[in-house]
Amino acid sequence: MIQLDLQGRRALVTGASGGLGRAIAETLAAAGAQVAVHYRKGKDEADAVVDSISKAGGKAQPFQADISDPAAVEKLVQQIEQAFGGLDILVNNAGMDGPRALVGDDDPQIWEKVLSVDLLGPYYCARAAIPRMEKLHRGVIINVTSVHEFIPWEGYSAYTSAKAGLSMFTKTLAQETADKGIRVVALAPGAIQTPINESVWSDPQSLKDLDKKISMGRLGKPQEIGNVVAFLASDLASYITGTTLAVDGGMLIYPDFRHGG
Ligand code: BGC
Repeated sequence: MIQLDLQGRRALVTGASGGLGRAIAETLAAAGAQVAVHYRKGKDEADAVVDSISKAGGKAQPFQADISDPAAVEKLVQQIEQAFGGLDILVNNAGMDGPRALVGDDDPQIWEKVLSVDLLGPYYCARAAIPRMEKLHRGVIINVTSVHEFIPWEGYSAYTSAKAGLSMFTKTLAQETADKGIRVVALAPGAIQTPINESVWSDPQSLKDLDKKISMGRLGKPQEIGNVVAFLASDLASYITGTTLAVDGGMLIYPDFRHGG
């Protein structure tokens, strides 16, 4: 019988107080992992995630840090190591898209902020996690990118650049760590219904427009990302490294090309 078993694994999920991160943390815990629920500002929300995991019989603890600060990240990973005795799974999920603005009308400080959370943050976390994983010759790093590591998106040049950068970071890091027993994989979600795109799915016209961009004609659910993260983190995915897996209901296969061309 095939079993997805993460018993004995210790996981850090960044940005786990809501959105995709919450579903990822809950799913890893349901598969048996002990989960560090990282948050920056949402203490109550993180506590609620830990609570729901505990009630379901899982193990989790909240941890606060600003992942765009390398010293804070080192401290975070040290705290997790002290609490859990090690770290086997890192899910770089925390991210932001920033306000929509064309280059020139935008604020360079916001561009830098998006890059520092979406690209430097995962780099700092991976950098702190690798020596801990290397010790056991066992580890998985999952970088949550986006279909926008492939698809340009007007008004979001910082976000698309950060996600494309994170994709190449994934491949390079996978190459560097394959002989250390560490796998590094990117997961590119499409349009998943979370607070990040609420303004789109809460408006019927915008939702219709978005659905048309998805071959399956609907938004994804956070659980549909959580399931894939659990698989990628498990030994069932033992031969997957250095690549991106899109979980997008067929957004990347140009649904518009069903007609014409
Ligand atoms: C963004 C969402 C968007 C989706 C598809 C994601 O990366 O965070 O806001 O709906 O891409 O465009």
